[in-house]
Amino acid sequence: MPESTNEPKRFYITTPIYYPSANLHIGHAYCTVMADTMTRYKRMQGYETYFLTGSDEHGQKIERVAKAEGVTPIEYTDKIVATFQALWERLLISNDDFIRTTQPRHMEVVQKIFQTIYEKGDIYKSEYEGHYCTPCETFFTERQLVDGNCPDCGRPTELIKEESYFFKMSKYQDQLLQYIDEHPDFIQPVARRNEMINFIKQGLEDLCISRTTFDWGIPVPINDKHVIYVWFDALTNYISALGYGTDNDDLYQKFWPADIHLVGKDIARFHAIIWPCILMAADLPLPKQVFGHGWVLLNSGKMSKSKGNVVDPNVLLDKYGVDAIRYFLLREISTGSDGYYSEEALVNRINIDLANDYGNLVSRSVAMIDKYFDGIVPAPAATPASEFDAELKALAETVGVDAAAYLEKMDFPNALASIWRLISRANKYIDETAPWVLAKDENKKADLGTVLYNLMECIRMSTILLAPFMPLVPGKVAEQTGQQLEGRTWADGCTWGNVETGVKVCKKEAIFPRIDPKSLDLPKEEVKTEAPKAEAKKETKKEEKTEAKQEEPAEGKAEITYDDFAKLDLRVVEVLECSKVEKADKLLQFKLKMGDEIRTVVSGIAKFYESPEELVGKKLVLVANLAPKKIRGIMSHGMLLSAATDDDSLLQVLQVTHEDIPSGATVC
Ligand code: MSP
Repeated sequence: MPESTNEPKRFYITTPIYYPSANLHIGHAYCTVMADTMTRYKRMQGYETYFLTGSDEHGQKIERVAKAEGVTPIEYTDKIVATFQALWERLLISNDDFIRTTQPRHMEVVQKIFQTIYEKGDIYKSEYEGHYCTPCETFFTERQLVDGNCPDCGRPTELIKEESYFFKMSKYQDQLLQYIDEHPDFIQPVARRNEMINFIKQGLEDLCISRTTFDWGIPVPINDKHVIYVWFDALTNYISALGYGTDNDDLYQKFWPADIHLVGKDIARFHAIIWPCILMAADLPLPKQVFGHGWVLLNSGKMSKSKGNVVDPNVLLDKYGVDAIRYFLLREISTGSDGYYSEEALVNRINIDLANDYGNLVSRSVAMIDKYFDGIVPAPAATPASEFDAELKALAETVGVDAAAYLEKMDFPNALASIWRLISRANKYIDETAPWVLAKDENKKADLGTVLYNLMECIRMSTILLAPFMPLVPGKVAEQTGQQLEGRTWADGCTWGNVETGVKVCKKEAIFPRIDPKSLDLPKEEVKTEAPKAEAKKETKKEEKTEAKQEEPAEGKAEITYDDFAKLDLRVVEVLECSKVEKADKLLQFKLKMGDEIRTVVSGIAKFYESPEELVGKKLVLVANLAPKKIRGIMSHGMLLSAATDDDSLLQVLQVTHEDIPSGATVC
């Protein structure tokens, strides 16, 4: 939010510019959908927005792929970049510009910045000798390699020795640390901020910023035997697209510094360290925030071409439509952490959240207005229809405020969970007020009108708030409800009492039809490598122990990196309900509160808890980002941590005992 009312409400967000070395997958779609949702939300809040994405087309990797295909690099990138743009259109990405690093408007600015920093004395010529990972386009020292391979992607590196220009990045180390210290929001989330600080504190070395052994790049302005290092070239896109350094720099004046560079955690380092140093050397302001999001993983791990498990968003769009795909990505993955994609989880989200909760609310309400009021939206009576009306209204007026607070922190799952609180409450309100009973009594007609009006209000408000996430939904719901739901402001979605009455509803087919999970032809990968079942937890634990013992007798399980650990989203949860699962004597079913979210979890620990009620009110620790799993017909969303003796004769769930630690708190 702008600090003073005089400050213009402007918002500039960027995605990484993607390499056209391969087709885009669901992970790339995830980042671009988040940036689009944020932009749409800010527009609804009255901001003038600018949203940039694009393609990173230079470098050795692209040159090699093009050669292998027998075409020139630009012929190759033209073809792939067209598929990027087509995908973004299908995903309803509302970017204002698409920058290609092969465009003259970009190349000129890159040369200009190089020249400026060179003239300042921060670029010098020397010789580079070290390792280079072409897939990552990154230089590494011998010391940084892991088992002789790239520490980021694990692939072999090449030893290169060539004359290069170097950027005096070491000179900016202290200035950058001080900047990070004074701007706590500059790098988010906090875990990434800490990683960056640790990295810088190990010492920044000068950065090699030119290559001579290939020529698919922007020539160094002072020596055309060299091309500019692809990351120096690529990072500059964020200002070249705004016309920085040209006669037409209105956009730069208006929108720089960017509000958010949204990037994957693997490239946070380039954005939070190298890019700020370049900007400092060029005497330009730094972006307000670099947000490093997590990865979309499969149950079998990372997507990769060699494994043949890359998920193509186009295939999912054909099958499930754009709103469902966007919803899944935004709802399923905690923004700063890794999350899992599986078609099974996608279909669960569609069936439970979209078809059952939201879709049913719309179709039931429309059907009742159709049946009891000849399809005309009734006006409310002067007095409430039930004791639940006031509570419903109060909740409706808070969810938009809560969702906005989450969106400001890029917390898409919780923003959606807030809106779902209203959707769930409205469904419950139908059961509480039983309109079909009111309809039987002519004296209750006014109350019936109020109930249906209130339901329409919940639909109107929640649908307006869902617009940034699922852009086609407001139009579809408008057709059925007769309400004007497109082009609304965020405030419209937070204000009760604006249903248009007297308009006609129109029953149509379900907005989100239910999908029969049995009809799914799931790829092998998804069924083969399931997360451990709660029922089989004991067995799994034993297997893991034996495996680990064989591999690392002295130390237990194999060593993991901090990144491996950071993939876990461990959270404090409060037990709201706990009971035995019928006909499954090993299982307990929990209803857990995690911040604003309510989760169901099934756990195979019943034999250790004779009276499950004793756990109600306790605060436990949940692995919150474990892929959801159906256990005895119940969807379980996470796994509770517990400690057990070696022979499993005793087990206790881990508890957090300090009462001031709230549910939802992160365990790290
Ligand atoms: N061209 C550089 C970015 C330059 S920005 C000045 C690049 N391109 S990339 O195509 O390899 O990756 C772009 C982004 O995709 C990165 O932010 C990366 O984190 C993201 N992803 C790649 N695989 C991903 C997932 N499986 N999940 C989520 N995002 C992932 O790096």
